[in-house]
Amino acid sequence: MKLRSVMAKLRGKGRDQVPTGLEASVIPDLPTVIRPNEGPMVVPDTEAAEVIARNLQGAANDLERLYYSHRGHLAFKWHHYLKVYDRYLGRYRNRPLRLLEIGVMDGGSLEIWRKYFGQEAVIFGIDISERCAAFDGHGGAVRIGDQSDTTFLEKTVLEMGGVDVVIDDGSHIASHQRASFRTLFPMLSPDGIYICEDVHTAYWEGWEGGLQRPGTFIERAKGIVDQMHGWYAPVPTSPADLDFLRSVQSVSFFDSMVIIEKGQKERPYAVAVR
Ligand SMILES: C[S@@+](CC[C@H](N)C(=O)[O-])C[C@H]1O[C@@H](n2cnc3c(N)ncnc32)[C@H](O)[C@@H]1O
Repeated sequence: MKLRSVMAKLRGKGRDQVPTGLEASVIPDLPTVIRPNEGPMVVPDTEAAEVIARNLQGAANDLERLYYSHRGHLAFKWHHYLKVYDRYLGRYRNRPLRLLEIGVMDGGSLEIWRKYFGQEAVIFGIDISERCAAFDGHGGAVRIGDQSDTTFLEKTVLEMGGVDVVIDDGSHIASHQRASFRTLFPMLSPDGIYICEDVHTAYWEGWEGGLQRPGTFIERAKGIVDQMHGWYAPVPTSPADLDFLRSVQSVSFFDSMVIIEKGQKERPYAVAVR
């Protein structure tokens, strides 16, 4: 069952009434080399209760526990993201973390982040849809604007007092993802983390994607891997790129997620010991 119809059912609405923000999450009908039953799926609502109960019982970490015991506004995450989030973000719990999530939708995600990170965290969500203003103050602050609008992003981060973690779960359109990254990565604290979700859209034409199509977030991230190795290889590097490569600690790829860790790097050196 496709996400659009699942969400429509959850909301008790017809397929055509699903908010446009969800368009970016619909799994299109594509020719696939994956065998039936091995492709990605959204659990149909008829089976959701059973899966939620099973995942709660077998929760591998606090985030899974909080997600599957959540009662409140609707949140919508791929199951395997929870383990990755816990691994990368666990160190920020109960600390004055500043987190910005792009894409609020129904507000449930902000509520879960609040439970996970605690009261010291500064949690902001941004969304292009005016309807999300209703979730302001539910787990975090909500600001309405476009993720590709540099001025809006800068103003939001200024209001937050800086940013340590960015989660891009917005439109999932390549040019938007690139625009947010271009503005927000330099604004991240020196050891901050940038997470881009649902990058499977990098393979979908309707999201400016396609296999190895220049400009997708996947290709951008692969390019960063080359830039990171600019010390060793003739990667075309401008002075601005040099600063950038010195601020990237790691690039990690998970199914549908790219995580870029910031961190000031010194010139690599090796030393023999005996
Ligand atoms: C996948 S949903 C977010 C889900 C939410 N983070 C969660 O985990 O439950 C995507 C959201 O991005 C918003 N969105 C779409 N285009 C956007 C844009 N250009 N700027 C900001 N938000 C956008 C949509 O309105 C929608 O609410």
